[in-house]
Amino acid sequence: MESLFDSAEGGEDRERRLEELARQVSVCTKCDLAKSRTNTVFATGDPYSPLMLVGEGPGENEDATGLPFVGRAGKLLDDILAAVDLTRQQIYLTNVVKCRAAVEEGGRLKNRQPKTTEIRACNPYLQGQIEAVKPEIILCLGGPAAKTIIDKDFRITKDRGTWYERDGIKTMATFHPAYVLRQRGDDLNNAKRLVWKDIQNVYAEYRKAMEARES
Ligand code: URA
Repeated sequence: MESLFDSAEGGEDRERRLEELARQVSVCTKCDLAKSRTNTVFATGDPYSPLMLVGEGPGENEDATGLPFVGRAGKLLDDILAAVDLTRQQIYLTNVVKCRAAVEEGGRLKNRQPKTTEIRACNPYLQGQIEAVKPEIILCLGGPAAKTIIDKDFRITKDRGTWYERDGIKTMATFHPAYVLRQRGDDLNNAKRLVWKDIQNVYAEYRKAMEARES
């Protein structure tokens, strides 16, 4: 794929690269999601972190604020990270699509999954972020991120929790926090247990990456 940074000088200044990407995203009209968005949602966190988390796309709260994972799913994500003593300031957090995907129902907009065409249109931005941040580990949150980054035929219930190598990056997927929130009873306990197990495995790799940097 053609690099979005071909015109940029050097190549090591990741903050400048990310700022330029965020600027491109803020004026993007590559798909129809641009028409209904309030804000684009680019990313938060540490662009020097070895760990990148990739969600699906902004919902209503994220569209309103321009920040990823600020609603209920975001609160659960913070709890998942806290289980291994991580905060969102220590990771780089973004989404597959940068604008809210919504459908009108009963006179109001409801969040929906982004379409394949929307994901494809937005993919150069995600690839640009991966290229700039150079994470050593990627955790995909939910099926759409896993299908985009790991394999188009990825099945989240079957394939989550397994390590894949993509372009030299250790990559895993776990359930999306919003999916966990939709579960009840035993299904809820089971989903939480699996996500907690996955984050422990991701954290072990994060520690290894940090120790290697420190030595
Ligand atoms: N769900 C996502 O996948 N991303 C967000 O930013 C918020 C909710």
